Amino acid sequence: MNGLPISPFIASLPKVELHIHIEGTLRPALRWKLAQRNNIPIRFRDTEYKTYEELLASYSVIYNHRPELGGRKDVPTFLEAYFAGCEVLVTEDDFYDLAMDYFARCQEMRVRYVEPFFDIQAHTRRGIPAEAVLNGYLRAQHDGAAKYGVRSSWIFCFLRDEPVEDGEAAYKAVLPWAKGNGGHGLFHAVGLASNAYERPPSLFKAAFMRAKADGLHITTHCDFGQKDTHEHIRQAIFDIGIERIDHGLDVLDRDELVAGLVEKSIGLTLCPHAYHRRTATDVLFPKLRQLLDRGVQFCINSDDPVYMSDVWIDGNMEKAYHYGNLSKTEMIQLVRNAIDMCWADADIKTSIYVELDALDVE
Ligand code: ADE
Ligand code: ZN
Repeated sequence: MNGLPISPFIASLPKVELHIHIEGTLRPALRWKLAQRNNIPIRFRDTEYKTYEELLASYSVIYNHRPELGGRKDVPTFLEAYFAGCEVLVTEDDFYDLAMDYFARCQEMRVRYVEPFFDIQAHTRRGIPAEAVLNGYLRAQHDGAAKYGVRSSWIFCFLRDEPVEDGEAAYKAVLPWAKGNGGHGLFHAVGLASNAYERPPSLFKAAFMRAKADGLHITTHCDFGQKDTHEHIRQAIFDIGIERIDHGLDVLDRDELVAGLVEKSIGLTLCPHAYHRRTATDVLFPKLRQLLDRGVQFCINSDDPVYMSDVWIDGNMEKAYHYGNLSKTEMIQLVRNAIDMCWADADIKTSIYVELDALDVE
């Protein structure tokens, strides 16, 4: 776990995960199994991994550079690794197995409720029917709750580096799986993922408004350290009326953006380990205390654990606790924030508040 063991205190906390990409939870063992099952070679740029050991070794390479911002161009990016992983996902059962494997991991970490992002376009553009993806996840949503006690309500993501019209078409295709209006109830929100470089949230304003009119919640990634990050946050808060921001840590640089978040009660879903990959400890972690001091609501999450050194929500919380010098009371408050910020039904929220209140912490 990136050098920091999970303490009994962090392990004991009931958890709510609001920022995780389901495709970023595809563990190497399952990836290997699905590759065999579907007879698909595992390739990454020019390299084919012919043995499980070679595949495993590939995960020790950390892809945290941004070629478009001056980083190396000769090595693959994190998003290339992430989308390469998707290639073994083909059938409804594959998507079911992916989600069930994640829910099993949730149970081990005491994650009680999760709002996973899913990228339908990452699969339909490979020729996979949307129904295979969505019916696999829908079955897992049901079975994950029954078998592992992990309840979930999912978030459709537009791939922001694809044409807006493609995202809108994808949204139309998945709408029958949404919550409300007689839909299947898989997802209750839409978000914006993939490469944010020169792809501001305002490009998707009409798409967000459509989702809102359909009764769905709206959230957007505003990546940490991205070009134009402050403008992306400004658009999200003031032009789109977003309900949550995924990342958004650069808000601290601008008083008017902090004021906007506080005034409109917009919370941040932070993933400290993701930023720690390219930010010094003494630059990054004091920001958590600054957010607390300035009254910005946030919670701790994991993003893409499998492609980020196998650091999951518990590892991210441990980093916030340890490097951020947060107290046990403050860590418990961050879990409470996640319950407050989530869009679960009241009975689910209540059950997690009750479990949190019953914790015996000295
Ligand atoms: N999609 C999946 N993981 C992502 C990330 N870390 N940032 C942006 N888009 C993503
Ligand atoms: Zn993310």
